[in-house]
Amino acid sequence: MEPTFHHAGIATEDADALAALYRDTFGLTVAHTETFDGIYIVFLACGGSYFELLEPVDNDTVAGFLERQGRGVHHLALAVEDVESALYQARENGVEAIDDSPREGAWGHEVAFLHPRDTGGVLVEFVGH
Ligand code: CO
Repeated sequence: MEPTFHHAGIATEDADALAALYRDTFGLTVAHTETFDGIYIVFLACGGSYFELLEPVDNDTVAGFLERQGRGVHHLALAVEDVESALYQARENGVEAIDDSPREGAWGHEVAFLHPRDTGGVLVEFVGH
């Protein structure tokens, strides 16, 4: 089954400030917030998809991304029916997975990331639903 677009993950030093900016500028409202894996995360609803604002509190991966590349798009996430078989399909196509198997991600989702080197320079996340 064809995947659907789930969210764009955006690295920022201040997720609440960016959420307020996107609310005032684009009319996006907060759907969910949580701190997961040392990242303060704000999900903004956008027509069935989301913006996932990522503010590192105690997370070297996102903090390092901000240091190297500055604020901006960190990853794109596709909703798939079965993360395990999506991972299998990616590997069959020679795409390296960062996660060997699906793991728990933010908002209770099952997730797995693919290496951006093999996906056109884009960090891709599978989200189970
Ligand atoms: Co994400």
